[in-house]
Amino acid sequence: MNATQPALVAPPGLGEERQVLLRQLVEGLEPAQLYWIAAYAAQQASQPATRPAPAARLTVLYGSQTGNARRVAERFAASAEAAGLPVRLVRTGAYPTRELAGERYLALVVSTQGEGEPPDDARGFVEFLASRRAPKLPNLHYTVLGLGDSSYPQFNATGRVLDARLAELGARRMAPLAEADVDIEPVAAPWAEGALAQVREKLGRELPSASVTPLRVAPVRPSFHRERPFPAPVLANQRIVSRHADRDVRHVELSLEGSGLHYAPGDALGVWHRNPAALVDTFLAALSLEGDAIVTHDGREQPLREWLGRGRELTRLSRPLVQAVADRVDSAGLRDVLANPEAVAAMLASHQPIDLLRAYPADWDPASLVAALRPLTPRLYSIASSAQAVGEEVHLTVAVVDYHAHGEPHLGAASRWIADAGEDAMLDVFIEPNDRFRLPADGSRDVIMIGPGTGVAPFRAFVQERQLAGASGRNWLVFGNRHAGDDFLYQLEWQQALKDGALHRLDVAFSRDQPEKRYVQHVLRERGAELYAWLAGGAHLYVCGDAAQMAKDVHAALAEIVATHGGKTPEAAQAWLSELLQDGRYARDVY
Ligand SMILES: Cc1cc2nc3c(=O)[nH]c(=O)nc-3n(C[C@H](O)[C@H](O)[C@H](O)COP(=O)(O)OP(=O)(O)OC[C@H]3O[C@@H](n4cnc5c(N)ncnc54)[C@H](O)[C@@H]3O)c2cc1C
Ligand SMILES: Cc1cc2nc3c(=O)[nH]c(=O)nc-3n(C[C@H](O)[C@H](O)[C@H](O)COP(=O)(O)O)c2cc1C
Repeated sequence: MNATQPALVAPPGLGEERQVLLRQLVEGLEPAQLYWIAAYAAQQASQPATRPAPAARLTVLYGSQTGNARRVAERFAASAEAAGLPVRLVRTGAYPTRELAGERYLALVVSTQGEGEPPDDARGFVEFLASRRAPKLPNLHYTVLGLGDSSYPQFNATGRVLDARLAELGARRMAPLAEADVDIEPVAAPWAEGALAQVREKLGRELPSASVTPLRVAPVRPSFHRERPFPAPVLANQRIVSRHADRDVRHVELSLEGSGLHYAPGDALGVWHRNPAALVDTFLAALSLEGDAIVTHDGREQPLREWLGRGRELTRLSRPLVQAVADRVDSAGLRDVLANPEAVAAMLASHQPIDLLRAYPADWDPASLVAALRPLTPRLYSIASSAQAVGEEVHLTVAVVDYHAHGEPHLGAASRWIADAGEDAMLDVFIEPNDRFRLPADGSRDVIMIGPGTGVAPFRAFVQERQLAGASGRNWLVFGNRHAGDDFLYQLEWQQALKDGALHRLDVAFSRDQPEKRYVQHVLRERGAELYAWLAGGAHLYVCGDAAQMAKDVHAALAEIVATHGGKTPEAAQAWLSELLQDGRYARDVY
């Protein structure tokens, strides 16, 4: 922004890309030309709203936080396209809700986050549908696939709410709501098949036969992806905290050379791990099972040891496993737990599968055990490098999960796998894009990055990228951890960035360096006036890291700051932040 251009805050819904276009359009114009544009826009605004003509096409909408719903929606759209149907695929955050009234065929794939909340990207869509502004939808045929995790008390809340609301607005279900658990495919595949058959039947009838396109191949995917990961050589794997630190944190550098994989700051790297061999042995010994027993499950035949090593979750407890144990031991105590969502949540947070299997001994045969354990899922790690800076490499910041409970050492399967990967090892990886967590297209915008702990990882990528792009906007990092002397992640790099002018502000909160706990939200409150001034001037705000506590505390602090320094009521401050979220100017990547 220069001195002659006043700061304008864009109205809600005017996305970053359009703002950039608008600025480009008006740049350098004569006053008469600017007045003409203003008059033209005013005339457009006063036109009666025209209803969009009903579209004879399928719209596939997805609301996704970590990519699962996106992947299912992409595949569904590709199969509809291959079947010759006119289809468009849109993420909820980019969907113009005014077009809903004109839709005829809608397939919605949406996950649930937080405590039964929509993914950030779908908030606006969910709020619009719930509001009185939502149109009646008598011409709409729809189907919803919800993605969730039955270990959460509010299983698939978002899918359920949207499915019910669309029906309330008069839309007709093409297929009943489908609700996928962590093992997505067994529900998603039949849903996709059924939904596609319905759309073909209904929409196919409406299309003039000449317009039905012949079968087309699905869109090109990168050569390496989730189902076909790239074996990336480890270039470096360094501990970046002192030996006194409570937790080991690694800076890991991998080579992507020859993979053809590309990423942008904000994306995550998916890593497929193996469970520790010692843990597999512990399972076999505790349950008196033989590792070479052959087990056939889901059409796959392999020894039990292989199922446990790389096919099943051994470290994450799930509700279905608690259920399977309760059934097997016929335990009234476990049934009571299962009847109470809070008790289930408490049990899942404090036990790994082995703790439960030990506490409730039963006779397990190899096949029942494999069926009861959840399929192994890859873990995601925020990418901590900019490809502009590191070329065909990708960097990660990994906290190693390692703790003591139930009288035994416990570990995190993937973080241990990564920590143990020496410089001759390879990690099976893929890129998980995250279009909601992007730097502003306009480099003159300021950015505020709140990233305590490993939440700082994507901001290393952001700062590298902005420096190399020569972005003129200011960068403000708020970091926190336990002790400045032990776990100030990338301290030297931040100090260098401050010197180079690549970082303009750095504020830190070390929780255990003084008698009272001090966290990033305390720093934000102290810097409230300045933070609000940055936001009011158009800054983009990013939060990354812990979802359970930090993101909520930071959000509460932001709401207070906006109320105090923006002179708003608490409700207006919340609404202001919701608009920022919907506009993508406040983005969260929390886990
Ligand atoms: C989008 C995204 C980005 C992410 N980015 C990063 C990142 O940059 N860096 C990073 O380190 N992680 C990141 N994560 C988290 C990461 O994906 C893994 O969840 C994390 O590494 C733990 O996985 P694990 O396999 O090691 O542990 P798991 O084997 O999954 O977990 C072990 C179990 O132990 C429990 N547990 C863990 N600690 C304790 C404890 N102290 N007391 C009691 N129980 C405990 C857990 O509840 C869990 O059930 C990200 C996650 C997402 C979704
Ligand atoms: C922080 C967090 C909170 C979640 N909360 C819920 C929940 O309340 N209810 C639910 O059914 N699933 C919940 N889930 C599970 C996700 O919905 C599930 O992993 C889904 O496959 C994610 O899809 P996505 O990658 O498209 O967002 C949660 C997951 C995370 C990481």
